[in-house]
Amino acid sequence: MLVLEDVSKTYDGKRMAVDRLNLKVQAGEIFGFIGPNGAGKTTTIKMLTGLLPPTAGRIMINGVDLAISPVEAKRNFTYVPDHPEIFTAIRGIDYLNFIADMHDVPTSKRRARIEKYTQLFAIEDALGELIHSYSHGMKQKLLICGALLPQAPLFILDEPLVGLDPLAAKRLKEIMVKHCAAGGTVFFSSHLLAVVDQICDRVAVINQGELVICDRVERIKNGFAQSLEDIFLELTQDA
Ligand SMILES: Nc1ncnc2c1ncn2[C@@H]1O[C@H](COP(=O)(O)OP(=O)(O)OP(=O)(O)O)[C@@H](O)[C@H]1O
Ligand SMILES: [Mg+2]
Repeated sequence: MLVLEDVSKTYDGKRMAVDRLNLKVQAGEIFGFIGPNGAGKTTTIKMLTGLLPPTAGRIMINGVDLAISPVEAKRNFTYVPDHPEIFTAIRGIDYLNFIADMHDVPTSKRRARIEKYTQLFAIEDALGELIHSYSHGMKQKLLICGALLPQAPLFILDEPLVGLDPLAAKRLKEIMVKHCAAGGTVFFSSHLLAVVDQICDRVAVINQGELVICDRVERIKNGFAQSLEDIFLELTQDA
């Protein structure tokens, strides 16, 4: 579903924020992307979503080269950024309808999906209000509802659980697991190692722009005979 071939990024022409990253994420996987602050997770995710052009390398999404056919590639995923930066002068419902329009969600399905997701994340009563009045977590939830609406095969999520209350975090984790059980794919970054341990099929650790390890969670744990937290700290201790 997602292939990165020797993907690199340098912001200033000097130090590599991401250094020849190679990853393959299969359909049906929940893939966790972890690493210390400044390791290159968000930079990688911004390249995957087409927000940042890679300095070098190739990104394929569902067999489509993101650089050659960006619109076709982008039809395969939705994305939740690390900060809920969102146009605030419209109402929540307007934002969701806009996203539904962009992704051609038919009107017959739109209402039921909006109801379902906004109820799940308990923001249905705020949909008539301007986003300007939303709390940080409410904006985050609105972005998540928007990302779920099109039911795209791939979810790309940058620290999606940050700022969510415990119930919303639980609901999102359940949705991620269900999505993959139904053949969908999730690529997400996180600092919450317990969550990564709990729900991921495979995990990649990035440190200073370089891939340190990429494997099934239980294989990594068996290989080191340690907790994921201890393994993470050992692999990234130079950071
Ligand atoms: N817009 C930018 N201009 C210059 N350098 C940048 C920019 N954005 C990120 N960087 C640098 O790229 C490197 C990777 O940053 P990135 O945001 O990808 O890290 P991250 O793994 O997402 O960290 P965090 O866990 O804090 O979110 C860091 O050294 C950072 O300083
Ligand atoms: Mg980040």
